[in-house]
Amino acid sequence: MPSFVTMEPTTQYELRLANRMSRLGTETAFEVLNKARALERQGKKIIHLEIGEPDFDTPSNVVEAAVSALHKGWTHYGPSAGLPDLRQAIAEEVSRTRGVECSSEEVVVVPGGKPIIFFSILALVDEGDEVIYPNPGFPIYESMINYIGARAVPIRLREDRDFGLDINELSSLISDRTKLVIINSPQNPTGGVLSKQDIRAVADVIGDRNIMVLSDEIYSRLIFAGSHHSIMSVPGFKERTILLDGFSKTYAMTGWRMGYGVMRPDLATHITRLMTNSNSCTASFTQVAGVEALRGDQSSVEQMRAEFQTRRDVFVAGLNRIQGFSCRMPKGAFYVFPNIQKTGWKSKPLADALLEQAGVACLSGTSFGHFGEGYLRFSVANSLENLNHALDQINDWTKRNL
Ligand SMILES: Cc1ncc(COP(=O)(O)O)c(C=O)c1O
Repeated sequence: MPSFVTMEPTTQYELRLANRMSRLGTETAFEVLNKARALERQGKKIIHLEIGEPDFDTPSNVVEAAVSALHKGWTHYGPSAGLPDLRQAIAEEVSRTRGVECSSEEVVVVPGGKPIIFFSILALVDEGDEVIYPNPGFPIYESMINYIGARAVPIRLREDRDFGLDINELSSLISDRTKLVIINSPQNPTGGVLSKQDIRAVADVIGDRNIMVLSDEIYSRLIFAGSHHSIMSVPGFKERTILLDGFSKTYAMTGWRMGYGVMRPDLATHITRLMTNSNSCTASFTQVAGVEALRGDQSSVEQMRAEFQTRRDVFVAGLNRIQGFSCRMPKGAFYVFPNIQKTGWKSKPLADALLEQAGVACLSGTSFGHFGEGYLRFSVANSLENLNHALDQINDWTKRNL
């Protein structure tokens, strides 16, 4: 195991990074995970509620499909946009679930959902353009917008609106420079879900302006109340929407690195060119398994969803019994986002203290933007036993410290 020591420079040459690197953000979850692992190496017991990945194994039919694909020689480069079979399976899946006709030429397969964020912003947004994005929200949006030198325009997700968008606020943020609006439902970190009316209202506010929408729907199959709605299905929005979805969360395949974007074919050509320039293609044998994931038995998806729901119920009820914590019931994804303002602590010091003194790893709301102050994010992708144990640990800590 490498130890984390600061290395003295071993070269006389100063590192001359490109200026833009100073604008690139990160995802704190990985940093907290490293810190938690370092504490574990010192012998501390940590309950991991920081990282956003299902704790389940990838369904065995999908694993078998990948193993078989490896044996059959799916070990070579494939087309940059993805294997035709998988693109077709995705087009059928999206047509069925979003109620809008999609063809395989509108699909680009990429290594995870994240590259669709990266590539869409690279392909569409110039320096000085404005991009509206949810805050608190997935940190990569803001990071990428800043990286390319565009103006990041946050739209605040408010707890009193169940972490939905305030449409009047969205309307006031749209300007002549707005190039892209990013929406995310079900939402990370709040668990908020945009209803059909919310989606309609977003579409109405954008109206017939030539603004693209990046609709991050990576948690589309993890909904606990109501159903999933995509702006792609609103009349007039198909050609202005890039739909992001993937395999990581739905099929517990985070480490496989496979996701996709669905978009108008002329844009798909450019996103494919970014793939050619960066990754060449997504790993071929994983794509063969992706076809099985989409077309094979879906029972494990429902089992995972139901299990997350049970854990959410237990964890939210438990948090609401802890002094200073109050937590809404998230409607989707596998996160809970309690308000901790009444503890009198700021989010980051509280998250640090819970890690170091209570053995519970979680994320500060500010990891998701400055409007996340006053909140913590816990992932419920852990066993009920560990979640209950974490609740006890947090409760004991608050009794000692508040
Ligand atoms: C909202 C959101 N979008 C995209 C991603 C990226 O998913 P992937 O691991 O498939 O790149 C995540 C992962 O946490 C996410 O929460």
